Amino acid sequence: TILSSGALMAQDYPERSITMVVPFAAGGPTDTVARLVAEKMSTDLGQQVIVENVGGAGGTLGAGQVATAEADGYTVLLHHIGMATAATLYRNLAYDTLAAFDYVGLVTEVPMTLVGRSDLEPADLASLVTYVKENADTLTMANAGIGAASHLCGMLFQQALNVSLVTVPYQGTGPAMTDLLGGQVDLMCDQTTNTSEQIRGGTIKGYGVTTPARLEIFPDMPTVAEAGLAGMEVSIWHGIYAPKGTPAEAVERLSASLQTVLADPTLAASLAELGTAPSPATDGTPAALQAKLESEIARWEPVIADAGVYAD
Ligand code: MLT
Repeated sequence: TILSSGALMAQDYPERSITMVVPFAAGGPTDTVARLVAEKMSTDLGQQVIVENVGGAGGTLGAGQVATAEADGYTVLLHHIGMATAATLYRNLAYDTLAAFDYVGLVTEVPMTLVGRSDLEPADLASLVTYVKENADTLTMANAGIGAASHLCGMLFQQALNVSLVTVPYQGTGPAMTDLLGGQVDLMCDQTTNTSEQIRGGTIKGYGVTTPARLEIFPDMPTVAEAGLAGMEVSIWHGIYAPKGTPAEAVERLSASLQTVLADPTLAASLAELGTAPSPATDGTPAALQAKLESEIARWEPVIADAGVYAD
């Protein structure tokens, strides 16, 4: 009997390891989420899901690499909100965000924290606001490049305070955190998946959280809204994509695996320590990710236009 390639695919996929591209440096928040998920998907799929870090240009380099990768089910991308914001931020993006990818599903949504080096003068968020306004010409703020979540959050922070700080771009906030710990930069806005351990350990200062409510892991840390910082509420959602044209059977298998992993209580436990949770398993679907991406592009377009920050 001659099986159609689809039938063959459904039966045998995956036959070898899968590369999961993370468009930021190793050791950062996207990498942390990807490695937790990849490990569990490997078990479920019976093949290794290997994380590959392709940092640079605020996540657009790695996304671009996956956009042009072979659409065979063996290359996927784990990316965050930057997939939506870069569509507007970059005037000459190398790929068409809405046309270049197939969707696997949503992964998680992570709060952000406004953090500073451990010896930064202000003790709390209210005094930080005054301090930043008074010292805007000397303070530096780290981010992972235009299109990164840290860039978006830092931009909202500066807009809320009506200041313009010198920003220092990195390939990811993993390396940026190293410099914050070393005191080479003053401030950063970054996901709890990268900041919670250091805040807990007192090696950096945690000033505020960008979610509507305070976090269970840091009940004493105010929300940015409590300090009157308007428009700074943002959570960083993550999704898994495949190059456009990936066989439907592979996308379905990946999505089913993602849904299994999202329902795994040990993943929830690991993420809870980092101040977050997996997306509901029912959102580990192509439809949920597509809807999220489309609505987020529409949501951030006017905010970015208002800020007037673009990259080429
Ligand atoms: C970001 O700012 O977008 C992230 O922190 C990137 C990263 O994972 O390093």
